[in-house]
Amino acid sequence: MRILVCGGAGYIGSHMVRMLLETGHDPVVFDDLSTGHLWAMETAFRGVGREPCFIKGSLGDIGALEACFAGQAFDGVMHFAAMSQVAESMVKPGAYYHNNVSGTINLLRSMVGAGVGRLIFSSSAAVYGLADETPIRDEAAADPINPYGRTKLMAEKIMADFAAVHGLKAAALRYFNAAGAHPDGSLVEDHRPETHLIPIVIKSALGRGKPIRIFGDDYPTPDGTCVRDYVHVQDLATAHLAALKYLEQREGGFFDSFNIGTGRGHSNLEVVRSVERVGGRKVDFDFAERRPGDPPVLYADVAKAARTLNWRPSFTELDDIVATAWRAETASAPRDE
Ligand code: UFG
Repeated sequence: MRILVCGGAGYIGSHMVRMLLETGHDPVVFDDLSTGHLWAMETAFRGVGREPCFIKGSLGDIGALEACFAGQAFDGVMHFAAMSQVAESMVKPGAYYHNNVSGTINLLRSMVGAGVGRLIFSSSAAVYGLADETPIRDEAAADPINPYGRTKLMAEKIMADFAAVHGLKAAALRYFNAAGAHPDGSLVEDHRPETHLIPIVIKSALGRGKPIRIFGDDYPTPDGTCVRDYVHVQDLATAHLAALKYLEQREGGFFDSFNIGTGRGHSNLEVVRSVERVGGRKVDFDFAERRPGDPPVLYADVAKAARTLNWRPSFTELDDIVATAWRAETASAPRDE
């Protein structure tokens, strides 16, 4: 299928592009490079010996989107293009609502205008907020506690309305914590500045990063630090392929959401210990104040994705996930932030 990959130069998007190519699809990347990287997009294509297929554009620019859809026929869209940091969303809510909600509306309207009927959307565990029960079931009430999570929930609801009225078929994949890197080491997580725990700990262990601060040691969790469900980026990509297949089989307008995680929670201290085991060196850290907007515990019940999409994660051990990130980080030259 010819798939428009919005945000295909980003961390998860570039891994998706590579997997689409490897499975015989024909991705076209649409990205404004505000947080994504040209090198990541190019590496994804060149990894399979293909020339990059790239349109530089923003979801904020409906003219650019319409021109993109007018230029060629797409069988579906994968939408990764969003601002994605909880802490940043607490201080820049306007940018988050503008990019993540208005951008999604522009995309949906352009898709409807062009008659493109399939969409897979990168949603987030952040929609759940302070979950009453863990693991978090798909049926749990969505009640986000930060602007980022609210943008994702709003986008889901808007998509459901488009499905009901315009016959769109859409699946929202509620990722838990994306982690790891392509096993061949060619693609790597590269946020600037980096705010995610695993790359921060790895960079620090390699002497490339800042000192590690663990935000909060007094959460109501076994060791007092937050618990997250780290899901490998390659498994996120296979979940998209499974969702694409599932949407093909649906009749009429359709919307549904799916938790995508491993079903296992790991505390921030466990992440530090995992990097120590994988890297074979001691990692120093300090505790700091809690980070505003962080829920204490997020890990998934993934039964619905297994049952409905026939999807299961292939990486289930934290050390195996961390090992791919470690390999990619050590394979690449240090990058400026
Ligand atoms: N953390 C630290 N020190 C750091 C960085 C992070 O202690 O230097 C902690 C955070 O406070 C949190 C945990 O590590 O407790 C994970 O933080 P990340 O920033 O790696 O990831 P988040 O859980 O905040 O958010 C990520 C994505 C979101 C997504 C969420 C879903 O960035 O887009 O996972 O679980 F919504």
